[in-house]
Amino acid sequence: MVISKYDHYLDVYERYFSKFVDTSPRVLEIGVCHGGSLQMWANFFGVGASIHGLDINPNCKEVERNGVCIHIGDQTDCDFLCQVVEKMGTPDIIIDDGGHSMKQQQISFDYLFPKLAEGGVYLCEDLHTSYWRKGYGGGYRRRGSFIEYLKRLIDKMHAFHSQSSLLTSDFMTENIESIHFHDSIVVIEKSHRSKPKQITSGTKRVDDLKKILWYRHPRKWLKMHLDGSRANEEG
Ligand SMILES: C[S@@+](CC[C@H](N)C(=O)[O-])C[C@H]1O[C@@H](n2cnc3c(N)ncnc32)[C@H](O)[C@@H]1O
Repeated sequence: MVISKYDHYLDVYERYFSKFVDTSPRVLEIGVCHGGSLQMWANFFGVGASIHGLDINPNCKEVERNGVCIHIGDQTDCDFLCQVVEKMGTPDIIIDDGGHSMKQQQISFDYLFPKLAEGGVYLCEDLHTSYWRKGYGGGYRRRGSFIEYLKRLIDKMHAFHSQSSLLTSDFMTENIESIHFHDSIVVIEKSHRSKPKQITSGTKRVDDLKKILWYRHPRKWLKMHLDGSRANEEG
């Protein structure tokens, strides 16, 4: 089986996927090609893992074997994606290594992220196509590139704190636990959350900044000390 990846991808996989090893996860990978990565996932996640690949190329069906199921269709066809998820059950992990065009990455993410299990991980690789215009629709700071889309997703994750009517909370705000960027990879962890609450405990040991700034003002500092010594004399 042929497999070809940037070398640092392996560390990224370890970092976010290790917690699923030997937990029988359901894994969906977009982009099968020769089936090399599907075989790697089967070995990595251990016995009991359910590994599904989807690809537009019907020849990819040939690499189907025990424990690895192949679905043939287009990653931008939401009806097809719906059927895949119905057949495999709620995925714990989704990896997008498909066509890598802006439209493909965005449509697949928008449709599949809500289908991901609570605590699940969505990883999209080869994000550098966001900087490649020809054949992918990317381009530096180009409106509609997947990287620009992800930058807006960072805003969405923070929408609970927004003071602007242009940024309001939605499903993404309530379900994105974290977004991690690596060279050419984004990892989005899913977990239901509500507006963060401030937790305060313990005793103050250090003067707060407002008081310190006040001390630093010579006139006020002098007045405070004079008032203090007068009060002592009178007392
Ligand atoms: C980079 S290869 C996948 C490599 C594989 N994940 C591995 O690491 O061994 C990309 C695959 O995406 C598939 N692909 C391209 N456009 C697609 C689309 N619109 N929907 C589904 N698959 C697509 C191609 O047929 C190709 O097999």
